[in-house]
Amino acid sequence: MKVLHSSAELRAELSRYQRPALVATMGNLHEGHLALVQQAKALGDVNVATIFVNRLQFLPHEDFSTYPRTLESDCAKLHSAGCDLVFAPSEQELYPTAQTYKIHPPAELADILEGHFRPGFFVGVCTVVLKLFNIVQPRVALFGKKDYQQQLILRHMIAQMALPIELVTGDTRRADDGLALSSRNSYLSATQRRQAVELSQELKRMVEALRNADYRFNELEAQAMQSLLGHGWQPDYMTVRRRDNLQSPQPGDDLVVLGAARLGNTRLIDNFEV
Ligand code: PAF
Repeated sequence: MKVLHSSAELRAELSRYQRPALVATMGNLHEGHLALVQQAKALGDVNVATIFVNRLQFLPHEDFSTYPRTLESDCAKLHSAGCDLVFAPSEQELYPTAQTYKIHPPAELADILEGHFRPGFFVGVCTVVLKLFNIVQPRVALFGKKDYQQQLILRHMIAQMALPIELVTGDTRRADDGLALSSRNSYLSATQRRQAVELSQELKRMVEALRNADYRFNELEAQAMQSLLGHGWQPDYMTVRRRDNLQSPQPGDDLVVLGAARLGNTRLIDNFEV
């Protein structure tokens, strides 16, 4: 496995391959990322993991400066997972000048849910991902379903911009108690970590109701919000949406339930397809 820091070196290395598979990350890797790397091996002739904490997708009050930067241990994990190339650019390498050209995904997809509570988040995500696509020129790109809205928006970007890239999703990896693995779980105290499972439990309760044909969407959402509030969470949303466009559903649509809530200072997200 080679670790490269410049786009020129990476391009030179990739010139021998036809079908790079890309796993883009911000580092502080967990099993979910490593599963994507393993999945990538069967899909491309070389797999590339990128590690870059992207300033553009953080709001001023968010955790950009404290986001864990753990390159050495990330590389050890990637090596064990069978990664071929790691691209870990500096900010200077990726943004040598202020990034004034940006990708603005459509409001109906990107200003709801995560984009409502984190304005500009998907502009930052789409802009860096397009840039990484241009540098790596992958044929396949893998994204986790844990970031459900992100993978959907990127899928639409690829289609609308006619990028010759197949987007493949990986299932959310969970701890034994059901908590979705996330780089931000490391912020939780031991007590919060024990409590954190409540987010996935509430979402599962919504899924159960929907599978039993209880389509009182508003009531299910309100109950889940109330329950989390009652346990000391600050929920942003607990909601039932259509899988294909994240708009409000009708009974009979393919559904996904999504939630985001803060436990102390840590904001967690999760979702389940119904
Ligand atoms: O999901 C992430 O870790 C990030 O949003 C991504 C896709 C690497 C872009 O910075």
